[in-house]
Amino acid sequence: MPTSRQRLNTETPIDIPNDLDAFWLPFTPNRAFKRAPRLIARAKEMHYYTSEGRAVLDGTAGLWCSNAGHCRDPIVAAIERQAGELDYAPAFQFAHPKSFELASRIAALAPGDLNRVFFCNSGSEAVDTALKIALAYHNARGEGARTRLIGRERGYHGTGFGGISVGGIVANRKYFGTLLSGVDHLPATYSREHQAFTKGEPEWGGHLADELERIVALHDASTIAAVIIEPMAGSTGVLPPPKGYLQKLRAICDRHGIVLIFDEVITGFGRLGYAFAAERYGVTPDMIVFAKGVTSGAVPMAGVIARDGIYEAFMRGPEHVIELFHGYTYSAHPLACAAGLAALDLYRDEKLFERAKALEPQWAAAAMTLKSLPGVLDIRTVGLTAGIDIAARPGSPGLRAYQAMERAFADEGIMIRITGDTIALSPPLIVSEAQIGEIFEKVGAVIKATA
Ligand SMILES: Cc1ncc(COP(=O)(O)O)c(C=O)c1O
Repeated sequence: MPTSRQRLNTETPIDIPNDLDAFWLPFTPNRAFKRAPRLIARAKEMHYYTSEGRAVLDGTAGLWCSNAGHCRDPIVAAIERQAGELDYAPAFQFAHPKSFELASRIAALAPGDLNRVFFCNSGSEAVDTALKIALAYHNARGEGARTRLIGRERGYHGTGFGGISVGGIVANRKYFGTLLSGVDHLPATYSREHQAFTKGEPEWGGHLADELERIVALHDASTIAAVIIEPMAGSTGVLPPPKGYLQKLRAICDRHGIVLIFDEVITGFGRLGYAFAAERYGVTPDMIVFAKGVTSGAVPMAGVIARDGIYEAFMRGPEHVIELFHGYTYSAHPLACAAGLAALDLYRDEKLFERAKALEPQWAAAAMTLKSLPGVLDIRTVGLTAGIDIAARPGSPGLRAYQAMERAFADEGIMIRITGDTIALSPPLIVSEAQIGEIFEKVGAVIKATA
């Protein structure tokens, strides 16, 4: 008997689910989606394929994560092998060899003495982990009064209570109570007036790092534990750091003994042409948060890379006593470690970080060709990312970009990401020069069609 539940046409191939009710989709308007679902059944390299077999060019590396492209043979083989060899082993009091191997490989990619890797499963967990390490680190050093955490307006650090507290996206915060106490925010670094249509790091805005001095003066450095920022704010529309901004933040944190955390969940693993944005900008934070690209999105994995001094501050007391009361059942999951090692091999063997760097000028030039299209208010690029602000429909913020995303998928055969009325692009790093042209042609077509 047909029920009132939403059903897809039963004529459709069998791998399409016919009941869409149970799954509550994250960060998705569920009713609109279930009326006109966008279902993805398969993927290979630069393309997704719908259940009907229609190819969709991946303009977003999934969710900024499939940096090596999809279903790459070496990653698939590594996961398959690992699933048959060791499916799970606890990381509390025990460990498996690949967790150490992967930690060493990640540490080797990170700058300076960022040598200690704590594994988590999502960016949100890794953000909370970094914030907790910062607090416990000060505690271990006898500076337990350092409890304040400083984030930034327009920052995105996932959806845990720590992440939304230091994050700066109003909709992600306002429904969820009082959040963590003792949090303050730096101002966002974006100004359309001063920065519009900049390729790479804008000239204007470095001085905004000085706001940290104002916050320190207000609260006193002795109460501040950490500052967390994304070197390039991705989720609020690709906001590259102004020239000199990160260097200034580093200097101010040094001056006041504040732990500086870079959330590199998006910028890590080649997105900006380097293993980490820290390397691109020549600024070494005290901790790096990573996720996404570490396994090229193939298995959930994330983590925190801490400087030696932070790790060492915990290594005291009786040796049988746990030093950091924190961790996850799936920290360093064997499948994730196997996928991570295979992904890092691919990045190295195919020189994908270098490839992103080499393609950046062409990518930026192609993005800027959309400048004169109707209602394009700004275009920003850095590494293999682009943010394109389009004029909102009067009275309906977000509607035009939503329609652009729908059209892009259905009519142009491309996956794009939207946030408000901004289109964000971040293809896998294997994108070809021809595909860069294709991406901006298709995006140009939807901008025109939704004008
Ligand atoms: C900078 C940043 N931090 C944290 C997160 C949260 O990661 P996850 O969705 O894996 O929890 C994201 C996700 O996009 C992110 O972009």
